[in-house]
Order: sequence, then C-alpha cells, then structure tokens
Amino acid sequence: MTSTSHESAVPGCGKPSKSGLARVGFSTGFGVLAATLGSAVGLGNIWKFPYLTGANGGAGFLLVYVLATLLVGLPVMMAEISLGRVGKANPISTLQALAPKGQPWWLIGAAGMLGAFLILSFYSEVVAWVFAYVVKAMRGSILSSDPKVTEAAFGALISDPMQSLLWQWGVLVFIGGILLMGVTKGIEAITKRLMPILLLLLVLLCAVSLSLDKALDGLVFLFQPDFSKITASVVLTAMGLAFFKLSIGMGTMMTYGSYFRDDQNIPLTTVRVMAADLCISMLAGIAIFPAVFTFGFEPTAGPALVFITIPAVFSQIPMGQGLMVVFFVLASIAATGAMLSLMEVPVVILHERVGLSRPKATLLTIALLVVLGSASALSNSTLAEFKLFGLTPFDVADFVSSNIILPIGGIFIALFVGWAWGLDKFSQAMSNQGQLHNQQLIRAVFFLLRYVSPALILIVMLKGLKLF
Ligand code: TRP
Repeated sequence: MTSTSHESAVPGCGKPSKSGLARVGFSTGFGVLAATLGSAVGLGNIWKFPYLTGANGGAGFLLVYVLATLLVGLPVMMAEISLGRVGKANPISTLQALAPKGQPWWLIGAAGMLGAFLILSFYSEVVAWVFAYVVKAMRGSILSSDPKVTEAAFGALISDPMQSLLWQWGVLVFIGGILLMGVTKGIEAITKRLMPILLLLLVLLCAVSLSLDKALDGLVFLFQPDFSKITASVVLTAMGLAFFKLSIGMGTMMTYGSYFRDDQNIPLTTVRVMAADLCISMLAGIAIFPAVFTFGFEPTAGPALVFITIPAVFSQIPMGQGLMVVFFVLASIAATGAMLSLMEVPVVILHERVGLSRPKATLLTIALLVVLGSASALSNSTLAEFKLFGLTPFDVADFVSSNIILPIGGIFIALFVGWAWGLDKFSQAMSNQGQLHNQQLIRAVFFLLRYVSPALILIVMLKGLKLF
C-alpha cells in the first residue's frame, strides 16, 4: 500500500505526481481494498471500540457511533479518497493543487501531520502493550478469570516506567525498520493473509464468551440502548471514534487515495471497508462484554478493559494459553498495519515537501516520536500526577486527537469538497469519469458533504466540549 517512488513499478499504474516523483498505484482492486482495510482495522477495533463502548454506557453509544459512521464517516472518507486520487500527492500538495488560487486549504494537510504525531504518540504505547502481552501470554502468568489477577498483571506493566518506555521504543524501532528497509509491501502481504485468522479467532472468542453464565447481560449492555445515557459528550466520543476507526480527518485516506488506481470504484471500496471494520468491532464487543459481566469486570475500566478481560476469556478454552499468544501476535500485526499508515503521512510530507530523503524523513519521524511518545508511556508511572483538565498526557493525546483534531479536519475536508472543489469534479472522481452509473449516490454524498456533515460535526463538537 505504501508504494512510493523508489519501489518497484506496477505496470500501468504509475503517474507522475506534482512534485515530479513517479507515484505507483496499488496493483489490483483487491489489493486496494486490503490495504485500505489494513489502515482502518487496528487497535481502534480491538482496543478503543470496546473500551469506549464500555465507558459510555453500551448500546446507546454503539447506536450513535453507527449513525456518525454513516452520516459523517462515509462521506468524509469518500471525499478524502477522491481528493487523493485526483491529486496524486501528499495531502498538502494535493490540496494546494486542487484549491482555487490563493486559498490556504493546504493547512488541512499540515494540521493532519500534527494530528498524526499526536495519535502516534499514544498509539505507539498501546501497540507496546500488545507486543508486551505476546511475551506475557507466552509466560502464561496472566491467564485467569479473576479480575484481580489480570488487573494486577496489566497494572504491573503500565506502572513500570522502564518497561513502558522500552516496549514503546521497541515498537518504534520495529516500525522504523520496516519503513527503512522498504518492506512495507511485504508486511502488507503478510497482514492480508493473517487477518482472516484473526477474524476466526475473534469468532471463536465470541462463541466462548456467549456460552458464559451471564452472556445475556453482556448482550443487553451492547445491544439494548438506554437513551438516558446518551449525553453530548457521549455523542462527541462516538463521532470521534468513527473518525479514528476509519482513519479519516488527517490525510491518511487522502494519501492512500493517491495510490488508488483510476478504475477503482471509490464508493464501493469505502462502503466495504466501513462494513468490514464495523463487523470486526462488533466481534470484539461480543467477545468482551459477556465476559465482563460474567467475571465481574468493570465495563468502565477504560483503556485497560481489553487487556484485563481477554485473558479471562482465553482462560475458559482448552489450549487457551497458546491461542492467546496467537491472538496478541495477530493483534500486533493489525496494529502494525494501522501504525504504518499513520506514519505514512508525516514521512511522505517530509519527503515530498521538505525534500528529505525517505530514510531521513523516517528517522526524523521516529526520533520525534521517541520524545513525544514518552509522555504517554510514562502516564501511569512517573507522570501519573501530571494532569491537564484531570487527564493524563496519554488521555489528553487520545482525547484531543479523536475529539478535536480529526473532527476539525473532517469539517474542512467536507467544506473543501462541498464548496471549493465542487460537484462536477467530485462526481468525475467518484464515477471514474462517468463510467460508473452512480450519479444519485454521488449527489446524496455531495449534499451530505456540503451541508450536513460540517454542520453536524460542528454542533456535536461544540456541545460535546460544552462550548455552546
Ligand atoms: N484506524 C486505525 C485503527 O483503528 C488507526 C489509524 C490509522 C488512524 N490511521 C489513522 C486513526 C489515521 C486516525 C487517522 O486502529
């Protein structure tokens, strides 16, 4: 997916970009789908979705999340991919090339780069926990259905500053190595083959979880909305999650769009990615909540939720320990794919805009993340008392990126397509120059982008942040 100028050419897909670098597209339609899915599916599905659903009251949150995905997420994702494919460059150059002269829409791309750093600063720490859990699972010390045992195991990891930092640095060196060796394609090939196994494992976990005593309580929590729990801040969190899970609002999908083939059906690919992403989250939810209620975990446990409940589910299966190792290995791979896509934005911008070589751009990005990320890594130890609005540095990065930066990016991307780029050009991109007969759909999406999504995002943000 992250094919760039120096990687092997795919016949018929290369196009010179604005900067004169030959960009090389994805080779097959399935490759596009798999790569885009590789960015969307990550710890957002396995970690963030369950913890936020638990913390925000369950089914009501899920309902708002699905609505936000349909009304805001899908249109913005289609907008980003369309812009990227037409611009064929990094987000800043794309927006500069497509905007009317003198209008500073490229700032969306610049903001996206900052957003990428903020997200990566805490995401790399969650990936660090997942990597650490591979080793913990091998040792077997965490396989238990006793909340006290699994909580203590997770607590021991995050409250140890050295372990937290070293695992995070390990993750950053690993990802940097993949980028520097130019083997992202190889990694994606592996991801593509292994993800079906993760899916199977999730289905197995669901089956086990559903057979537990209080499975019904978990299902009620997940599927029977209690509307009194839907507050303005719950709505904002659900919308932020929709942005985060679809990797939109900061240029990732625009960058991916720049690698799309010209005959790729953008609306169809987008809908498929969204549907698959939603399914995987639902499986994660069904695997976790029945266990939460059966074994007496707290649904509101926060970022720890998955790490403390998953071992309890595996403790109920024969060969649970081995399977749990497999689970965390696969989760690491899914997380690596998502992280590579996040890194792609700063790396491509530093390469194409600032003129650094790709290796230098990669090294600089990693070096910055080692510094920035340490604030998140130390949030539960050295910096535990260091709070902003009552939140640790980790929580601030998590909250600000999903609930402020991505939605603002989304507003401006929608406004750009709706008001500056216009229906004609959007329609050309979405219909492959009129070859697809999807005019009605395009008009509906355009209407959402021009009027509905920006207004909705703004209102949700202002209300959710209590500014209005
Ligand atoms: N969507 C990914 C996940 O669910 C995370 C991610 C990758 C992301 N690229 C992004 C989030 C860009 C926001 C923006 O884990």
